[in-house]
Amino acid sequence: MPVFPIRSSARRALGAALLGLAAVAASAQDMSGGTDIARRAIHVCAACHGEGGRSASAAYPSLAGQPAQYTARQLKDFRAQQRAEADNKAYMWGVSALLDDDTIQALAEYYAVQAPAPGRARGPDRLLKEGRRLFEDGVPGSGIRACAGCHGERAEGAAGFPRLAGQHADYLERQLKGFSTRLRPHGVLMRAETAGMTAQQMRAVAAYLQSL
Ligand code: HEC
Ligand code: HEC
Repeated sequence: MPVFPIRSSARRALGAALLGLAAVAASAQDMSGGTDIARRAIHVCAACHGEGGRSASAAYPSLAGQPAQYTARQLKDFRAQQRAEADNKAYMWGVSALLDDDTIQALAEYYAVQAPAPGRARGPDRLLKEGRRLFEDGVPGSGIRACAGCHGERAEGAAGFPRLAGQHADYLERQLKGFSTRLRPHGVLMRAETAGMTAQQMRAVAAYLQSL
C-alpha cells in the first residue's frame, strides 16, 4: 500500500498538534466538558485537515459533511489503536489518545454540519464516466455492489457509511487499496466490495467521487 512519506514539515505539524492538544486537555478542568474542549481542539485538527475540515492536501482527508457516527467511530478506532494504516498510526493514534468520548462526540457533530469541500473534476471524461457507472450500478456478477446503495445517491453518506463526495481522489484510492490489508476493523463490508475490483476501477471511481 502506498504510504504518504512523513516529511519533516508534517512531523513538525504533528508535534505542534500534540502539544496543542495536551494544553487543551490540561485546561479541561476550566471548561464545561466535551463541547468546550472540542471547540479548542478544532484549531489543532485544522492544521492538517483544513479550516472547517475542508482539506487542501490529499495527504489529509476532508472531514466536513462527514456523518457524525462515522467520524466518531474512526476516532475511537484510532484511540483503541485498531485502525492501523501506517499514516493513521503515525498521526491519528497520538492525536486521538488525548480525546475522551464526549470530546470525540462533539468533534464529530461539529464536522457533520460544516459545509463540505466542493467537488473538483480532474481526469478525462471517460474515466469519470467509468467511475460513475461503477458507483451507480456496481458490476453485477462480479460481487461489486453499487456504491450508491450504501454511500447514498450523491455519495453524501449516512450514519456509519462515510460521505465520499468531494473527498480527495488519492485518499479514496489509498483506502480502496487498503481494505484488503485488514488494517481497518470496520472495513469488513469494504473488504468484500473491493476484493473483485481492479486498480483501474478504483482509480475511476475515486476520480468520479472527487468530482461530486
Ligand atoms: C499532524 C496532522 C494531523 C492532525 C493534527 C490531525 N489529523 Fe486526522 N488524519 C491525519 C492523517 C495523515 C490521516 C489519514 C490519512 C490517510 O489515511 O491517508 C488522518 C485521518 C483522520 C480521520 C479519518 C477520516 C476518514 O475519512 O476516515 C479522522 C476522522 C481524523 N483524522 C480526525 C481528526 C481530528 C478530529 C483531529 C483533531 C482532534 C485530527 N484528525 C488531527 C493527520 C492529522
Ligand atoms: C454494503 C455497503 C457498502 C457498499 C456497497 C460500499 N461501501 Fe464503501 N464503506 C462502507 C462502510 C460501512 C464503510 C466504513 C468502514 C469503516 O468504518 O471503517 C465504507 C468506507 C468506504 C471508504 C473509506 C472512506 C474514508 O473516508 O476513509 C471508501 C473510499 C469507500 N467505502 C468506497 C466505496 C466504493 C467506491 C464503493 C463502490 C464500488 C463502496 N464503497 C461500496 C459500506 C459500503
